[in-house]
Amino acid sequence: MRPALALLLIAVSLPVWAAQPVRGRKGMVVTREPRATEVGLKILESGGNAVDAAVAVGFALAVTHPSAGNIGGGGFMLIRLADGRTTFLDFRERAPAASSRNMYLDASGNPTQDSVVGYRASGVPGSVAGFEYAARKYGRKPWAELVDPAVELASKGLTLSWSESSSMENAARTLGRFAESKRVFLRDGNYYQPGELFVQPDLARTLARIEKLGAKDFYQGETARLLAKDMSEHGGLIAAADLAAYKVIERAPLTGKYRGYDIVTSPPPSSGGVGILQMLGVLEATGYEKGGAGSAEVVHYMTEAMRRYFADRAQHLGDPDFVKLPLRALLDPAYIAKLRASIDPEQATPSSAIHAAAVVDVEANETTHYTIADGEGNLALVTYTLNGGYGSKVTATGLGFLLNNEMDDFAAKPGSPNMFGLVQGENNAIQARKTPLSSMVPTIVLKDGKPYLALGSPGGATIINTVLEVLVNAIDFGMNVQDAVNWPRFHHQWLPDQLQIENGYSPDTIALLERRGYKIRRVNSQGECAAIMLENGWLEGAADPRTEATAAGY
Ligand code: GLY
Repeated sequence: MRPALALLLIAVSLPVWAAQPVRGRKGMVVTREPRATEVGLKILESGGNAVDAAVAVGFALAVTHPSAGNIGGGGFMLIRLADGRTTFLDFRERAPAASSRNMYLDASGNPTQDSVVGYRASGVPGSVAGFEYAARKYGRKPWAELVDPAVELASKGLTLSWSESSSMENAARTLGRFAESKRVFLRDGNYYQPGELFVQPDLARTLARIEKLGAKDFYQGETARLLAKDMSEHGGLIAAADLAAYKVIERAPLTGKYRGYDIVTSPPPSSGGVGILQMLGVLEATGYEKGGAGSAEVVHYMTEAMRRYFADRAQHLGDPDFVKLPLRALLDPAYIAKLRASIDPEQATPSSAIHAAAVVDVEANETTHYTIADGEGNLALVTYTLNGGYGSKVTATGLGFLLNNEMDDFAAKPGSPNMFGLVQGENNAIQARKTPLSSMVPTIVLKDGKPYLALGSPGGATIINTVLEVLVNAIDFGMNVQDAVNWPRFHHQWLPDQLQIENGYSPDTIALLERRGYKIRRVNSQGECAAIMLENGWLEGAADPRTEATAAGY
């Protein structure tokens, strides 16, 4: 080989990135918010395992990151124990018993905003039940120790950062429509400023009851009574019987393989795990990675895999307890090979050639994900959410917490887009007690049977693609975990037929993509991945620099 050519090959095959993760050996916590990260770290340092820390962080974020952290929403926890067992806790919201298929359609049959804002938008919250279930079955610390840091944070108050105070003010138009939200988060119009103390006495009282009485308070006790009363006084759907009937569902994770790595990911009602496995399957035999990270070639192949998966998602995915899902068919190697063969190596496939539907262009970027590893080999990954930022914008009267607008994750009108612009089908139509389809996808990658990468992200429909991209950044492009998280992102969801791409992509790459037929939409930021890589006895935590997220380890 000529020396010049050899040099070139080395240059393109060696990673040249330099961002450094936080390193530790005994424990690592990566969350959206520094005070919550500290809470998790303290639980680990004082002998708790990863699940204990995940529960404590969940409660802490409900105080410190109220736009997405919550006790009025729901989510998923993916756990891998040191002995190799894995499990998935589904504590997502369920449709109240009073829900019905056309409940969000107006007289002309068009979707209204009722699934997005206001009392009617909320599903039955699952977070408190999920945390108690996780702590009882997989944790070891006393319950009170896990809730108490959140009680302290709510009662003593938080000094607000610039982004925290502006986030509340930016939501004023919709938060301000509800007197209790206006009082709690907007100080009746006298908006909180950076550096001011934000004290939440109502939330502190609610959390103190949960600390003392457990989830029973939230589902059958004083909190349940006050929440059901507030709902009935404002035309909401959640009744005392819905709260009393709430159950966490423990499910087997979805598993698959990619280039010899084992993937342990989220099963339905997450649509994410099926998507990750199908898209990895499509990519594996294309040789797409030869283009190099950031190249138009890589973005092209990944986008075409995304486009095809999101068409399947719209058509087929829903709550597995209510509808039969063709998972085997969607992950069948022969079907995946067919999808791969349908990709034109040079040109974008128009989404209309895959499926057709008219959509509007809406997006939101909320939810929150955190990843925790302890020194014993346990991993706990949580993605939980109110759905949109500050959920339904309704604060439960006297209780201090926001309620979710997760009902918008159902297809209010199958074939029409939801607030993420996502088109969804019959399988995700509304039914009483059903769970809305989710994109949240906490995921673990194993190398030689041992945990190698644990990750997840918020971001509505973009979650699935953010997780896919960080995963291949590590496996296919050899990036360290911090670089893999930092690397610019992109998203395609079949409809609308546009490639959303972060500004970090070079104008040259964009021009090449436009030449291939992509309609590009530039965005500042996509998702917020919290990842931990486990290599050579080290826990390497990567917080996403797109937000105020932090990683801390010891
Ligand atoms: N609420 C966002 C999701 O579950 O996908």
